[in-house]
Amino acid sequence: MYSSIRHCSSLLFLLFFFFFFFFFFFFHYSAAQAPDADGYTCSANQTANPCQAYVFYRASPPNFLDLAAIADLFWVSRLEISRPSNISDSNATFPLLPGQPLFIPITCSCHSVNASVSISYANLSYKINAGDNFWLVSTSKFQNLTTFQSVEIANPTLIPTNLDIGVNVVFPIFCKCPNPTQLQNRINFMVSYVIQPADTMSSIASRFGVQASEIRAANWPNPQPFETIFIPVSHLPNLTQPIVLPPSPEQAPAPVREVKNRAVTGLAIALGIVGFLLILAVGLWVVGVGKRRKNEREMEERFEKQRVQDVGIWKGKRKEMEVDLMADVSDCLDKYRVFKIEELNEATDGFSESSLIQGSVYKGTIGGVDFAIKKMKWNAYEQLKILQKVNHGNLVKLEGFCVDPEDATCYLIYEYVENGSLYSWLHESQKQKLNWRTRLRIAIDVANGLLYIHEHTRPQVVHKDIKSSNILLDANMRAKIANFGLAKSGCNAITMHIVGTQGYIAPEYIADGVVSTKMDIFSFGVVLLELISGKEAIDNEGDVLWMRASTEFLDGKEKDKLESLKSWIDEALFEQSCPMESLMDAMNVAVSCLQKDPTKRPSMVEVVYALSKTDEAVFDFSDDNLSAPPLTAR
Ligand SMILES: *[C@@H]1O[C@H](CO)[C@@H](O)[C@H](O)[C@H]1NC(C)=O
Ligand SMILES: *[C@@H]1O[C@H](CO)[C@@H](O)[C@H](O)[C@H]1NC(C)=O
Ligand SMILES: *[C@@H]1O[C@H](CO)[C@@H](O)[C@H](O)[C@H]1NC(C)=O
Ligand SMILES: *[C@@H]1O[C@H](CO)[C@@H](O)[C@H](O)[C@H]1NC(C)=O
Ligand SMILES: *[C@@H]1O[C@H](CO)[C@@H](O)[C@H](O)[C@H]1NC(C)=O
Ligand SMILES: *[C@@H]1O[C@H](CO)[C@@H](O)[C@H](O)[C@H]1NC(C)=O
Ligand SMILES: *[C@@H]1O[C@H](CO)[C@@H](O)[C@H](O)[C@H]1NC(C)=O
Repeated sequence: MYSSIRHCSSLLFLLFFFFFFFFFFFFHYSAAQAPDADGYTCSANQTANPCQAYVFYRASPPNFLDLAAIADLFWVSRLEISRPSNISDSNATFPLLPGQPLFIPITCSCHSVNASVSISYANLSYKINAGDNFWLVSTSKFQNLTTFQSVEIANPTLIPTNLDIGVNVVFPIFCKCPNPTQLQNRINFMVSYVIQPADTMSSIASRFGVQASEIRAANWPNPQPFETIFIPVSHLPNLTQPIVLPPSPEQAPAPVREVKNRAVTGLAIALGIVGFLLILAVGLWVVGVGKRRKNEREMEERFEKQRVQDVGIWKGKRKEMEVDLMADVSDCLDKYRVFKIEELNEATDGFSESSLIQGSVYKGTIGGVDFAIKKMKWNAYEQLKILQKVNHGNLVKLEGFCVDPEDATCYLIYEYVENGSLYSWLHESQKQKLNWRTRLRIAIDVANGLLYIHEHTRPQVVHKDIKSSNILLDANMRAKIANFGLAKSGCNAITMHIVGTQGYIAPEYIADGVVSTKMDIFSFGVVLLELISGKEAIDNEGDVLWMRASTEFLDGKEKDKLESLKSWIDEALFEQSCPMESLMDAMNVAVSCLQKDPTKRPSMVEVVYALSKTDEAVFDFSDDNLSAPPLTAR
């Protein structure tokens, strides 16, 4: 007993020693590297003090896409952020976009640390949660607008390694007040801005509508990424906010139905069987069934090495999966309506030819409501698991499911989307031609749906099979992404099993099997090309649309591009004399999505932003010049 206490205390001593050593070393080291880690010195008699200042903040997942959460963090009201940030509805409950820029007001003043040093900061109090430390909160929640060194200085009585949950800590948010000379030059505010790795002085300057030299003059030489600099402005720049479409009202959670015990047991057993079949199927696949595809052999060789690894992983995972499966079934039960097989049989006339929509999807009416019913053999579980996490107006909603233990079949019941697939609207001759505005809105809807699965689900979901036939149009011609059959949860995985659709698959996926959100962005680029050109992703001669686009547009001159564009545009759009700039903008977005190097492709946030801007331009145009599009106004 005694010895263990002694043991313990010597360990503690060691820990403390290490901490102090580390702290001392780091403190001095970093003080030499970056003289500002402690904060930005000031003298109270040389500046307006205190003063109004602003920080430039970027909405960020997972917790700070909510205006209310950001407002709470900075002790301001939502209105105080939304007004300077040009967000029209401060009460909006839909999330901000990741990276969306905000101006947050703070009160800046000069605080003396000791007799000789004063530091300029805004005094923000923050309550410590489980898992927080000074460094983590400074770099993540406050996005490097302060440093842990400065937090230590501002909280001399707290021991950084021993923080109690619930204790209030002052986070000194770096800021600066204009000095009298600056005030004379009408510099009314200093905006605290954290330099991002991709920034240049001139990009920052143009964002704030000032000269790069003015920024340089107000700061020290050579600021580094993630350091805070101060942008002297006479008034805040006008932020143009990306347009976030509020989720449509009909996507309330599916009604919860009471489920009889027997049904639950039956279902659990059935899904167990389904799971077992899944494992068996994968197992069989691994053992080497797989001559289903034309170039299978080529693929086989390419993935031989990965397969060997994967088999090992699968063996280990099998048991785990069975357990997971049973656990997850109970999760699904209270989220979805469980349909009876008799109901489905009646709704579809016994799955008759006349109710077939396409493939294995049937239309059925149950209780006066139309549904799309998808019949599946064994792979429903992945979809169920993924769909359970996603709920967004631009994704086809799963309403419920049904398991028929008799023949181990699973049915997924989706909302019925009235107007069918985008593919049919673009490529089937009997349909009326869509106008450009409708096409653009479809592109934005799809982009918003992808943005949601890429950025707002944890772990991320990659759809893997974005194509015009998986995009459905509702009664208002708003688009919804369907068919999560191939979707994959988690990112940057390598798969051995190449799936997807020719003409839409990203080259890196074919080459290396790399799964990432960038492959959806590539496929989205192809869909955008289809919308612009009205051509199919791969034509009857086997010519691939995206290859043609990237050779003609990737590094041509602006003037040549405009010429080539004319040969690309769908004739139906020509007849409507729609604005060329808008088409060119969309083409540029498409081409940037189609870059061979996935890291060069834009993120969905950027795509949504770019397309929304184009849409606004067209909106103005069509208001004056064109007849009303078949769309409800925003
Ligand atoms: C401001 O105060 C510092 C000492 O705190 C003093 O050295 C300096 O002369 C003062 N400057 C002005 C302009 O009063
Ligand atoms: C926001 O909500 C508050 C109360 O919840 C209300 O007073 C205010 O009018 C609302 N603002 C807008 C723009 O709807
Ligand atoms: C005052 O604080 C600064 C920053 O913590 C420190 O570098 C300096 O040595 C301190 N000066 C005195 C006299 O304590
Ligand atoms: C910072 O604010 C807290 C309360 O919000 C206050 O108790 C504290 O004195 C302030 N610190 C300074 C240095 O102004
Ligand atoms: C803050 O800075 C660190 C590097 O010092 C960086 O890794 C981190 O991503 C930054 N945080 C944000 C939100 O930019
Ligand atoms: C606010 O943002 C909209 C776009 O969202 C833009 O058109 C408008 O000019 C902005 N207003 C100001 C004052 O900058
Ligand atoms: C911002 O908008 C205001 C009016 O809305 C305008 O007077 C001002 O010139 C604009 N500033 C910039 C930098 O665009």
